[in-house]
This record gives sequence, C-alpha cells and structure tokens, in this order.
Amino acid sequence: MTLLALDDATYAYDARRTVLHGVSLEIGEGEAVGLVGESGSGKTTMLRLALGLARPTTGAVRFEGAALDTRDRRRMRQFRQSVQAVFQDPYASLDPRQRVGAIVAEPLRSLRIAGDHPSMVANALRAVGLDPEIAGRYPHQFSGGQRQRIAIARAVVCGPRLLLADEALSALDLTTRIRILDLLAELGTRISILFVSHDIGAVAALCRRIVILERGRVVEAGPTAAVLANPSHPYTQRLLASVPRLDPEGPSR
Ligand SMILES: Nc1ncnc2c1ncn2[C@@H]1O[C@H](COP(=O)(O)OP(=O)(O)OP(=O)(O)O)[C@@H](O)[C@H]1O
Ligand SMILES: [Mg+2]
Repeated sequence: MTLLALDDATYAYDARRTVLHGVSLEIGEGEAVGLVGESGSGKTTMLRLALGLARPTTGAVRFEGAALDTRDRRRMRQFRQSVQAVFQDPYASLDPRQRVGAIVAEPLRSLRIAGDHPSMVANALRAVGLDPEIAGRYPHQFSGGQRQRIAIARAVVCGPRLLLADEALSALDLTTRIRILDLLAELGTRISILFVSHDIGAVAALCRRIVILERGRVVEAGPTAAVLANPSHPYTQRLLASVPRLDPEGPSR
C-alpha cells in the first residue's frame, strides 16, 4: 500500500519563481526511497511538502490513499504522528538548554500522546543504540554521531510509519556515517524511509527505489539498481560520472 505520495505537486516560495514543477513520488509501506539531486534542485522543499510544513500550490499530498486536508484535525494529528523527520545538522537541531530526555519526549508532548513518557523515551534511546541513562544529560556532552542518534530517537519515539531523512549523514565523518546508515537500515525493516542524500553510495546501500530530481522536476525514477546500472537521463549519467571512484590499482602517485 502507498503510505505517502506527492501527486503532481507544484510549489513556489514566492510569485517570481516556481521551485517544484509537477513532481510525483510514492512511498510504500516499509519501503526506503532515495531522493537525489544537486543542490537547489528542490529536495528539501519536497520533504517539507511530505511533512506537511508547506502545502503544494497545485497537486496534492496523499496519506494512506486520501489527500491531506488541513481542516481535518483528527487525521492531521494521525499524519503528524506517522511522519517524522531527521535533518542534516545534529548540532543545530537539538536545543542545548534541554536535557536529552526532554528533547526526545518533545513529539509525545506536542502530539499529546498518552502513556508513560519516560519509558517511551528509554525505549527510543535503546532503539538507536544509546543507553537510556543519558536522558539526564545535555546535547553538548555528545559527539555528532551520538547527537544524530538522539535526533533519530526523537523522530521514532511516537512510533511513526515514515521517517524523512534530509542529508542526515552529511555532517558526520565516514565511520559514523556508516554506523548511522546501518541504524537507518535496521529501522527500515519496520518503518518506511525517504532518504535525501548527495551520496549515491549511501542511497544504493539503503534504498530499493530512487528518484532523481533536476531543477524541480523528477527526471528519472525506478529501482535503484536498474537506474544506476543504466541511467537513461543525461542528468543521471552526469551525476553518476561525478561520483569519485577508487581506482582498484590504487592512486597513480
Ligand atoms: N525559504 C525559501 N524562500 C525562497 N526560496 C527558497 C527557500 N528555500 C529554498 N528556496 C529555493 O528553492 C529551491 C530549492 O531549494 P531546496 O532547499 O529545496 O533545494 P535542495 O535540493 O534541498 O538543495 P540542497 O542540496 O542544497 O539542500 C532553491 O532554488 C532555493 O533557493
Ligand atoms: Mg536541502
């Protein structure tokens, strides 16, 4: 079943320039989809539409088969609980004045979810490989990778069905990137993921399907292996050609 879809969505931040021109995207239940495109192509804007932070100028966002209607408060609440996001910068995204426990519990408070919040927070921390004991500490006491785990714990604490990750690995060093990618892959066995990345290798490792965006248009979409093995659009070919490859012979000097 399609969990979330953008249908022919157009978006403009202002009247002068349209940044998305009729883009469509479908994310199935339990599926990981990669969204790739150069800087400024509109990836974050698509994610903002998918999160309900912005409404398409024309077209629609479809959740569980029906177009989202912001006036339907019960369904909007269900939608907000079902779709959560993780962003690029784990330094900017965690409030330095709040303890980790309060940060991770934030969606439970804002969505007014009933239950034992401290134990839900402990479970979320465990799910991302952190010791629940850290709930009493502050973000500055953690590394970038640990902070990104905290941000992921906050995103999964309310039991979402879809995780939107916008360049969630790019602020991390290589080893940490691989660990967080492993964590997303593990979460991906239970949750759908929309993975925005410049890193085609990471997309290939995580996502069965890929969508290529160029200047606000979807120029190619399909199974990741097929698209990468045989890119049909010149833009995708250029994108793949620009990925640095390690020479099996080693560096020439
Ligand atoms: N708040 C805003 N107001 C006006 N224009 C914006 C705003 N945010 C983004 N844009 C413009 O919309 C276009 C798409 O931006 P977007 O941030 O979606 O790209 P992106 O693919 O996420 O890029 P990056 O890889 O650099 O994050 C760009 O031309 C950008 O300048
Ligand atoms: Mg972006």
